[in-house]
Amino acid sequence: MSATLKPKVLFIGFGHLAKSLLSKKLLNSVNIHALNSKSVIKNINLKKKILNFNNDYNYIFLLIRPNTFLTSGNQFQKYLSKETLVISCMAGIKLSTIEKILKSKKIVRIMPNVMALNNKSQTHIYMKNKNLFDNKLKKLLSNFGTIISVRNEDQINFATSVFGSGPAFIAYIINIFVKASKKLAKPYNMNEKDLIELFKNVLETNYSSKMLDDFVSSISSKKGTTQAGVNYIKSQNIEKIIYTTLLKAYKRAKEIDSEKKNTKSQ
Ligand SMILES: NC(=O)c1ccc[n+]([C@@H]2O[C@H](COP(=O)([O-])OP(=O)(O)OC[C@H]3O[C@@H](n4cnc5c(N)ncnc54)[C@H](OP(=O)(O)O)[C@@H]3O)[C@@H](O)[C@H]2O)c1
Repeated sequence: MSATLKPKVLFIGFGHLAKSLLSKKLLNSVNIHALNSKSVIKNINLKKKILNFNNDYNYIFLLIRPNTFLTSGNQFQKYLSKETLVISCMAGIKLSTIEKILKSKKIVRIMPNVMALNNKSQTHIYMKNKNLFDNKLKKLLSNFGTIISVRNEDQINFATSVFGSGPAFIAYIINIFVKASKKLAKPYNMNEKDLIELFKNVLETNYSSKMLDDFVSSISSKKGTTQAGVNYIKSQNIEKIIYTTLLKAYKRAKEIDSEKKNTKSQ
């Protein structure tokens, strides 16, 4: 496809998530400009500064922190035209709030994660006007991985906890297992790669909650080594710890939108 026919995309904010969205697939299929906190716009494909911008973007991704948007989001109105579809990746900020601040109704909310770089994001999407979810948008978002459409805006808050923040929780838990295993077998320098491989192997053979339950039972023979460990892990109420971790992230996502309103009324 020639460069001129490719959709024009503006990233507002170019931090961790923005950089994770830059998969090779995305770079090949769209022309991307990125705006930073110093109001400088860069052409990401050509790696050069843009001196005069045209507000002819097909898509604008909101990739700033929620607080930046709540306090100074109206400064971004000038980058929108009537044709522009705004795609908010921000946690917590409601569609109605974005509509008011940007004075536009052409807005969808998505919740991707940093694995978009390898086309492995399970991106949740919510919009009021279903007509906005056309084939062009599906094609654009499929550059990140799979797309999961949700009907209720609150489902984006659950997705924020489980799929947005979840990769960090999972990485933390796996790392605890890796570090604890190494500590246990300290004199023998257990290989980290082997431990990571162990996680992959367990997941490769078990791909449902029931399979995982059966897997645990099949290894836990009576009075055996696994049962000794499993009994202990169960007694420590790990279910509550994991549930509360997810709940805290969900509650945080839910409170973000009202933060500016609260500040105003103080
Ligand atoms: N990180 C994730 O895994 C993840 C996942 C899902 C959703 N999100 C959402 O994605 C958004 C960005 O998160 P992040 O982790 O990428 O944050 P981040 O790394 O802090 O990036 C935010 C970026 O916004 C820029 N910025 C600040 N003020 C600006 C302005 N006035 N105009 C233009 N750019 C401005 C910052 O530039 P400077 O560096 O110059 O200050 C920075 O590059 C958040 O709303 C978050 O809720 C993140």
